[in-house]
Amino acid sequence: MSWYYRHWLRPLLFLQDSERVHDRTLRWLARLSSSRTLCQAMAGWFDTPGLPVEAFGLRFPNPVGLAAGMDKGAVAVPAWEAMGFGFSELGGVTRHAQPGNPEPRMFRAPAEEALLNRMGFNNPGAEVLATRLQRWHASGRWPSHPVGINLGKSKITPLGEAASDYAESFRRLWGLADFFVVNVSSPNTPNLRQLQDKSALDEILAALQEINEAKRQAAGPGARLRPVLVKVAPDLSFDALDDVVSLVGPRGLAGLVATNTTIARPATDDPMARIVYHEMGGLSGRPLRERSTEVIRHLYRQTEGRVPIIGVGGISTVEDAWEKVLAGASLLQVYSGLVYQGPSLPSGLVVGLRERLAGGAWSEVVGKGTG
Ligand SMILES: Cc1cc2nc3c(=O)[nH]c(=O)nc-3n(C[C@H](O)[C@H](O)[C@H](O)COP(=O)(O)O)c2cc1C
Repeated sequence: MSWYYRHWLRPLLFLQDSERVHDRTLRWLARLSSSRTLCQAMAGWFDTPGLPVEAFGLRFPNPVGLAAGMDKGAVAVPAWEAMGFGFSELGGVTRHAQPGNPEPRMFRAPAEEALLNRMGFNNPGAEVLATRLQRWHASGRWPSHPVGINLGKSKITPLGEAASDYAESFRRLWGLADFFVVNVSSPNTPNLRQLQDKSALDEILAALQEINEAKRQAAGPGARLRPVLVKVAPDLSFDALDDVVSLVGPRGLAGLVATNTTIARPATDDPMARIVYHEMGGLSGRPLRERSTEVIRHLYRQTEGRVPIIGVGGISTVEDAWEKVLAGASLLQVYSGLVYQGPSLPSGLVVGLRERLAGGAWSEVVGKGTG
């Protein structure tokens, strides 16, 4: 499948604008998602083996997840499980619906297997997302793998009111997903990344955890707090990452997601990539791989392996995935890899990871390369 995708389908898809292909694919997956039979057929086709992983109180059938940004509007929720993903992260969603930045805003650099985007959180808003998620729950089509929601800040909300903006989305969506990721690391909303500063992030997390506790109590005996994670930028210095780490204990963070896209631009010999790299936005895919692994390794060391890390950035082969696991990632996510390798990527990664593991325990290999 992967060979056919790369040699037949991908060249055709790459003749068209990148966002149009994305939208068309999502519409197709949304249609597929409405049919139980088609989802079962797809799951049978990819036939992903199990590789169970436990993290922050949730059980993942395998450690390979869908990264945020692919299904911002939760239109294809069952399809991701059928494609073989062990979890999915929907969104980023903001409190208010917003159109995002003007197009074009998504570019490919095929020679580098990279994407560059400045979408700017185009999404239907927390209210519409909540309605869609309720519909998926009611339809009996809710996936059996953990589903997370990526929370962003609305563009119209001033930075000083960010905490209440995140908090309102969280309040609305609390009962509808298994975990939440606070995204303060997208380069495409003006000044958003300033929210990674310790005091600003602390204020956001305090607001979320207050709601978390109140919702848990209101939900009655046996209800559990929703795990809250923070997603960091690869462009943060190690000192700035340590500031984020210092909030893990005090704010009860369940984990860290490393990393978002980068504003850095690596050297390239490819003329087309050079043109793309001149665009404003965040770079993802192969050029991000090394830095994101470095960040994971640093976070793992600083947290002494006690905080689950979701490793994301430039994973397109089993080697890339394994490198991140050795650096300290207990869970993984892909976005750009899916565009370049096709839909058999998750199942291929799980098969390869199982082979590498050779019957050993997952927890024994996570972080083994950190010395
Ligand atoms: C078009 C596009 C949209 C994205 N939107 C979001 C988003 O809404 N929230 C977020 O946290 N990350 C977003 N990301 C970042 C990805 O989740 C991921 O962190 C990044 O692309 C690195 O992974 P990759 O190299 O596998 O693509 C987006 C990435 C792309 C390419």
